Amino acid sequence: GMTMKDEEKLYKKNGILYSTIMSPPENLDALKDMEAREDDIMLVAYPKCGCNWMDGVLRKIITTCGYTLPEGPSLIEFHSPDTQKILSQMQSRRLIATHLHPDDIPVSFKTNKTKMLVVFRNPKDTVVSYYHFMNNNPVLPKAESWDKFFSDFMSGEVAWGSYFDHALGWEKHMDDPNVLIVTYEELKENLLEGIKKVADFFSFTLTDEQVQGIAGESTFSAMQSSSKTSHGKFGKVFFRKGEVGDWKNHFSEDQSKQMDEEFKKKLGGTKLGAKLKY
Ligand code: A3P
Repeated sequence: GMTMKDEEKLYKKNGILYSTIMSPPENLDALKDMEAREDDIMLVAYPKCGCNWMDGVLRKIITTCGYTLPEGPSLIEFHSPDTQKILSQMQSRRLIATHLHPDDIPVSFKTNKTKMLVVFRNPKDTVVSYYHFMNNNPVLPKAESWDKFFSDFMSGEVAWGSYFDHALGWEKHMDDPNVLIVTYEELKENLLEGIKKVADFFSFTLTDEQVQGIAGESTFSAMQSSSKTSHGKFGKVFFRKGEVGDWKNHFSEDQSKQMDEEFKKKLGGTKLGAKLKY
């Protein structure tokens, strides 16, 4: 990985950019055959929307309820050539995750009506978080500049594709009984409620005290402090600032206007768009 040139770190498949190291083409191909299970705990998020946060919350819910967490790859499209074999051998209930566009999630998730928790975040903070991630993650190419990365994000020329396409993809599933969409902002506003909602959705029963305990361990500062244990040397990369509104420190007035216009054009009048206001 260390010798890979920046221009080799991303590749395109069906018009979407992916990370060569994180999700090589053969893994995306192998995914087609993945067998989802009805009791899988599936976490879906566009990059930088709070995937690791929700993963941490889910882990705590599962272990608090007395279940063991089977070891597995952090994303179903992840790098090891054995990913599909490992996934198929994991014991139920599996906690699994993906950054894939909803239309690219293996079809058996739909046929088995697997419950999917989808995390979204307002696009302004998402692009800022993504910009820092590009510059701190050696498997992704460094962003040339904030302005260049902003325009790449707006045109969907970033790993895992266009934020707006992902949002539009989920808009069609807002009322699916097996889909729960939560936002980063609502979790920041009321983590207790968020945890209750997520636990309920996956049919885990928690006492109020347990919910409070999980919330206490899932604040940004708590998760950042334990990130060395949970994420090793990538801890700092995944737990950067953890705030709503950091975009104000990066966006020019024109960029803010551009994002507002694009948001209105693509997501105006949609249910998900209304949830994502910022
Ligand atoms: P920032 O870069 O804005 O700090 P993902 O896990 O999907 O890659 O998302 C990473 C973003 O979630 C980062 O945003 C990170 O700091 C934030 N995050 C992680 N844990 C969090 C927590 N417990 N509370 C709030 N934000 C958190």
